[in-house]
Amino acid sequence: MAQSDIGLIGLGTMGAMLSLNIAENGFPISVFNRTTARTTEFKDNAGALSDKVTACDTLEDLVASIKSPRAIILMVPAGDPVDEQIAALRPLLDDDDMIIDAGNANFRDTERRAAEAKEQGVPFLGIGVSGGEEGARFGPSIMGGGPKDAWDRVAHILTAISAKYEGVACATWMGEGGAGHFVKAVHNGIEYADMQMIAETYGIMRDGQGMSAAECGAVFDAWNDGVLASYLVEISGKVSAATDEGQAPMLDVIMDKAGQKGTGRWTVIEAQHLGAPVPVIEAAVAARNLSALKDERLTGEVAFGAAPVTLPEGALVDDDLEHALIVGKIMCYAQGFALLNAASAEFGWDLPMPEIARVWREGCIIRSSMLNDMADALTEGPNANLMFAPYFSDLIRDNEPALRKTVTTAIGHGLQAPALAAGLAYFDAMRTGRSTANMIQAQRDFFGAHGFERVDKDGKGFHGPWGGQL
Ligand code: 6PG
Repeated sequence: MAQSDIGLIGLGTMGAMLSLNIAENGFPISVFNRTTARTTEFKDNAGALSDKVTACDTLEDLVASIKSPRAIILMVPAGDPVDEQIAALRPLLDDDDMIIDAGNANFRDTERRAAEAKEQGVPFLGIGVSGGEEGARFGPSIMGGGPKDAWDRVAHILTAISAKYEGVACATWMGEGGAGHFVKAVHNGIEYADMQMIAETYGIMRDGQGMSAAECGAVFDAWNDGVLASYLVEISGKVSAATDEGQAPMLDVIMDKAGQKGTGRWTVIEAQHLGAPVPVIEAAVAARNLSALKDERLTGEVAFGAAPVTLPEGALVDDDLEHALIVGKIMCYAQGFALLNAASAEFGWDLPMPEIARVWREGCIIRSSMLNDMADALTEGPNANLMFAPYFSDLIRDNEPALRKTVTTAIGHGLQAPALAAGLAYFDAMRTGRSTANMIQAQRDFFGAHGFERVDKDGKGFHGPWGGQL
């Protein structure tokens, strides 16, 4: 008998946690996993929530156990598995039954799937879910995309299971098609950059200032009480303090090669397509790629010698790093929101900028106290660069000297701070009314007669006097 409010396919860590969250919020749920043993194990371990869980051995059972019109969440690995699952499931469903892809899909795949669903006249949502395992279990941040009426049908469930910031649900409909997954990708791009800039300050403390992991951890803990209060700074304090079975600091035994599933890279690729500059995120993605070249880096260390890295006593103080990180973070978010604005215009989404900042305030990996101020700033000027919002302009003015000091000191001693440096370069570019692109334009016109605009006359297509010199 159909009794469940919703179904879920894919009981990996995220799917399992999300299912328990849904059940705990009072919604009976039917679950299915490719391997039946996993489904049985999940129900057996659901404890008091198992009453709300219907474990299904087949897709047919799953469909039969959900109230019509049905909604079924897919929590399978992004890419081909999503298409395969849709192909297997769709023929079993009625036209008003909805499939919801809640994985980390590339938004272009979601756009394609949304277009196919529209052609078939069936509802399809692509939703970005952030917050890792804990978020999925106790309240993630949810970025919805697809037809608004489809979102409205399941919004009561998605808002109930989402994180809450001062009582406000961190779940919002972002727009049609792949809008939700695009916003999630930008979230992840920012996540990469936030993490990289924290890692850079850690490197300056560890290598430049000879601080132990525990000492670095204490600094992160202190930062977490100030403007930088955030989940990522908080966990940086925790991982720095942890030891390997009470012996060496855990950080010291972790290999320095960063993994990635690709969402940060997608952000950079899309930013390039859109011509939206996101240099801090680009630097963070490049740094992950560089980190993977462990063997070549070791070869380089032998060939060229390691950089000196040790900073003279007092060259930088903790405040400098904290202040540098504040500005770097503002630059990164300014770029992320500018990218969202560019995408919104290009894809006709009308993305709700302040709402995006609001759903990121709790539940997701990049949650931070600064996002509340960003939500306020974006309410005032949804399409303006965050740098120019008065609150952030003041923060930049107060802290930019520390970013410059940190970056120049680090670079001067061979310490790496590529994302912080990219943030500084972005700041300098954004406050330079007269750039050097006139030289680029002259070169383009010289070799290709591409034409240029002049500062002293209206119009386009002017040429330089170099025709005769070719
Ligand atoms: C989240 C995270 C999550 C992401 C992992 C790993 O918002 O919960 O962004 O979706 O997949 O953090 O990402 P990488 O493997 O690319 O680092």
